[in-house]
Amino acid sequence: MAAVEFLPNVYWVGVVDWNLRDFHGYAVAPRGTTYNAYVIKGEKTVLVDTVSAACSRAFFEAVEAVVPLEAIDYLVVNHVEPDHSGCLMEAVERIRPEKIFCSAMGKAFMLSHYHRSDWPFEVVQTGQSLPLGGKTIDFLELKMLHWPDNMGCYVREDGLLISSDAFGQNWATSERFDDEMDFNEMAGLMGSYYANIILPFSEHVLKALGRVEELGWPIRMIAPSHGVILRGHVEEAVGLYRRWARQEVTRKAVIVYDTMWKSTARMAEAIAEGLIQKGVTVRVFHMKACHHSDVMAEVLDAAAVILGSSTHNNGILPLMADMVRYMEGLRPRGRVGAAFGSYGWSGEAPKQLSEALERMRMKVCDVLRVKNVPAEADLAVCKDLGRRLAGEVDALAGA
Ligand code: FEO
Repeated sequence: MAAVEFLPNVYWVGVVDWNLRDFHGYAVAPRGTTYNAYVIKGEKTVLVDTVSAACSRAFFEAVEAVVPLEAIDYLVVNHVEPDHSGCLMEAVERIRPEKIFCSAMGKAFMLSHYHRSDWPFEVVQTGQSLPLGGKTIDFLELKMLHWPDNMGCYVREDGLLISSDAFGQNWATSERFDDEMDFNEMAGLMGSYYANIILPFSEHVLKALGRVEELGWPIRMIAPSHGVILRGHVEEAVGLYRRWARQEVTRKAVIVYDTMWKSTARMAEAIAEGLIQKGVTVRVFHMKACHHSDVMAEVLDAAAVILGSSTHNNGILPLMADMVRYMEGLRPRGRVGAAFGSYGWSGEAPKQLSEALERMRMKVCDVLRVKNVPAEADLAVCKDLGRRLAGEVDALAGA
């Protein structure tokens, strides 16, 4: 796509990747993503970030449409993950920048990714500025959002925060701005991104938001490294980030299970029924019919997480094991949980699931096991668990 000048002398020079479907385990189907890079022109010109190596041709075409490469003075590398630094080697060779601005970890990561100690690194910290003549960039370390190296840039004259991975959405679109799109759809994708990428680093989000407040920067636009630029809903987006980072929950329960001969499925349906009777919003995921990233997008604001599996070879069914491992890594906290499952003889799976909930610091309300096929009395116990969980959900969600 062509470059877009969205503020005076500030250009989007990113690439739309319509075909991305998996981002280290986060399924972004069917929406793809964008890799956003920016050119800022003052008396000096800076290129902020590059894109995935697979998109190099489109990227250099977009950059060259706004500035000849040899006229770029500086590079800013906000993040070394290859979706943003994939064209860095070629960019440095063709641009020959006077300086490459990055965080201390950014320099370390570039050295171990690209092995070029001769590059003109300039390590910067929060509070340091780069005057371009007509534009001023203030640097902001965004450690762990999403790697230790992440950094952002604030363009003082425009109130523009270039936020790197924070506030991203995996969304391949021809539109470049939130006010050209449906906000609720955008917020849902931003939430999915948060749940699958940023959630483990929520404390760092709160620190970064606090730091921006201390710095007193008025934020008029947020330009992330993925998805659309926020200019119509900046306050709402910051509010959502604050809520997600505090792990605030709503009256919602997520039931995730896998089943061998549908007995565990019947237990899941009965638990759901009990919750629904009490007016709780319920999402049920059978792992043979969904992806773990879709589950996490719903867990983001759910007060209850209920895990089920038949017992298979003394353990959890493989798709549930994958789900639980993925969920644990993303560190949802402060929810209520329960575990359930049917079994033939040994029946370890529900206990293993409840231990996973405990490792996620969730309060385990109950662990239900049914031998082979649930009888009506077993299903009544499951429904009752749903109703009891509803009370816990109300307490957590402040209803
Ligand atoms: Fe978009 Fe952490 O890379």
